[in-house]
Amino acid sequence: EPTIVRTVAELKAAGRELLESAAAAGRTASLGLVPTMGALHEGHARLIAQARAENAVVVVTDFVNRLQFDDPADYERYPRVLEADLAVAGDAGADLVFVPEEREVYPDGRPRILLSAGTLGEKFEGASRPGHFDGMLTVVAKLLHYGMPDPATAAATGYRVYFGQKDAQQLAIVQRMVHDLDYPVEIRPVPIVRSAEGLALSSRNQFLSDAEAEAALVLSRSLFLMKERAEAHLPLAPDDALDMIASAPGVQLDYFEVVDPSTLEPLAFNCAETPFTGEALVLVAARIGSVRLIDNMPLRAD
Ligand code: PAJ
Repeated sequence: EPTIVRTVAELKAAGRELLESAAAAGRTASLGLVPTMGALHEGHARLIAQARAENAVVVVTDFVNRLQFDDPADYERYPRVLEADLAVAGDAGADLVFVPEEREVYPDGRPRILLSAGTLGEKFEGASRPGHFDGMLTVVAKLLHYGMPDPATAAATGYRVYFGQKDAQQLAIVQRMVHDLDYPVEIRPVPIVRSAEGLALSSRNQFLSDAEAEAALVLSRSLFLMKERAEAHLPLAPDDALDMIASAPGVQLDYFEVVDPSTLEPLAFNCAETPFTGEALVLVAARIGSVRLIDNMPLRAD
């Protein structure tokens, strides 16, 4: 069972102790941090397991960040299941689970200073969720401080932070922040974990009816169609994917775009007609009933 820590001071003390005993045992004393909002599933477990494989000490953070919810009702209904989270985190190999009260993270209530995700935060998810990425980035900036091993401790030889490719725009924005603001951390991307049928795992999937969950499969199917074509060096012809999605019952498409993986700008070449080469990312978002789902697929063909 992992140890629960509730304050930043406890987290720092417990982390230091674990790093010191790893160093004393002759191990490379690196720390892996896995930020989450709880409601942990197989997707989160994959991040934790990768952190476990790569580091002496593994810290999971479990905090529902009000700042990144543009809709207060969405914040209220976000699942909070600490007991189950501890079991998932422990099974996947977490040493510490940081579960702060809101006032530990935001002692003055809403902070006056927020980080800005800039133009990267305005498109796609940011367009339908104003302020979401600024709120996300602000808490991630704080969590990166909380988890950061004390540089004065000679034992601190690595700091890796794990993000899922599921949230591709979030990952791109965090990578950009670490680069632009000189954070001494290594961001480790982890591939999307899917159900056997292909649905990207998400804590929001539990709000889908059986029929909606079936309809939602069209999202991953449309992405896999793009992947097959990319790998066969065919034109992506995304209109076919759009047609698939349009014919699925109750699926309201928000966007389906082929973009550059780091800038999230539209690709320079015409993917309707030009055979695919190089690298791209396909992003999709849709509303199914009352649930908004996102998914994506990295494409690569040399
Ligand atoms: P949350 O939605 O809990 O996700 C935590 C991490 O798990 C994210 O990096 C996310 O991309 C990853 N993840 C979720 N589902 C996944 C899946 N099916 N496959 C692979 N990875 C998956 O993302 C957040 O929390 C928050 O924005 C946070 C970064 C914690 C800041 O509050």
